[in-house]
Amino acid sequence: MQLKRWLAAGAVVLATGAVAGAVPATASHPVDPSQQSLRQLGMRHDLYIGTAVDMAALADPADPQYRQIVSREFNSVTAENVMKWGELEPTRGTYNWAPADELIAAAKRNNQKVRGHVLVWHNQLPTWLTTGANDGTISKAELRDILKNHITTVVKRYKGKIWQWDVVNEAVSDPWDNPPTLHYKGFWAQHLGPGYVADAFRWARAADPKALLFYNDYNIEAFGSGDPANDKTQFVYDMAKQLLRDGVPIDGIGSQGHLGTQYGNYDTLQVTAALKQFAGLGLATAFTEVDVRSQLTAGVQAGDSNEINPRLQASAANYSVLLQACLADRHCLSYTVWGFTDRHSWVPGWFSDPPEGLATIMDENYQPKRAYNLMKADLIHSGPPYVLPRVPQKPRR
Ligand code: XIL
Repeated sequence: MQLKRWLAAGAVVLATGAVAGAVPATASHPVDPSQQSLRQLGMRHDLYIGTAVDMAALADPADPQYRQIVSREFNSVTAENVMKWGELEPTRGTYNWAPADELIAAAKRNNQKVRGHVLVWHNQLPTWLTTGANDGTISKAELRDILKNHITTVVKRYKGKIWQWDVVNEAVSDPWDNPPTLHYKGFWAQHLGPGYVADAFRWARAADPKALLFYNDYNIEAFGSGDPANDKTQFVYDMAKQLLRDGVPIDGIGSQGHLGTQYGNYDTLQVTAALKQFAGLGLATAFTEVDVRSQLTAGVQAGDSNEINPRLQASAANYSVLLQACLADRHCLSYTVWGFTDRHSWVPGWFSDPPEGLATIMDENYQPKRAYNLMKADLIHSGPPYVLPRVPQKPRR
């Protein structure tokens, strides 16, 4: 009896997420939610809060804070680079698994889920592959075999350890491309035609029956004109619908969420509407790479608060738009930021003309920005009847 009572008390402490040694929360002394982590607050809604992980930073002995924050704040992780083909198989037939294995091991230690990123993409491919396909020494038939073999090998290695796989990434063009009519773009479409998308999902499913299989892309936060010739969200929606009709095992749509404060951007209700449309097809959704960058004007670089403050506020507001939209649809399973600190963000390296930055939720010294606190507030101040726990997605066979 005594033991039973003690066990029950222990279960309450665990359930409220209280730290060992802390005074357990009671009705008269509730937990201060602002002191809880993003991952704890996300669990109020069964929503996983993730980050991309830079494996070099995670291993850096001089940077313990990076590791601490990854484990404290997040319960889902994505490899920022180390699961990309060029990193995994720089030389044909020789796989460099170590960094990806380390991510999986770290996730296990931290009780985190893993989003696998990425199986098929036109960027960060090994040069042996692109050179061979482009100079004709690798034929189309061989290229298809190589792709099947790659997907099978990688998915099997991590079978049972990946929650969501980004099977195909960024297959669709943008209105500013040439030709402007939206189409399947890039290396794989050029060499194999658009049929590679369905093939990739089938091969991934054969290698892991339980992982959720996602199509992942940017600029698909909300619907536009509704014309698939220029509305990328509509194009992706139509693609997913057709894949489902054809019996292709696709389980979800990943909306990357790379935004910039200089653009118009969508509001929460528009983004919610898009997530609900995808859910209407029977698909899960996720925000997979959220960051909201700003132009680093001369004033920003000189530390002028008149220029910095509106950018930080706009960045926070856009993080919130995507998070509230995700909360509002029970099929939106996770919300992942593409790095959590300006100390390790891809933005300054990629968007340099004009220079951009300030894209993440913590500054270069790991100080939380307004975006971090607004995310917490969104998770705290939401609940029934409009925000309900997530509906688990069953992998489609
Ligand atoms: C980026 C990484 O963050 C960089 O470190 C790398 O140099 C380039 O790729 N869409 C994606 C991600 O799907 O894989 C990209 O990651 C960012 C855009």
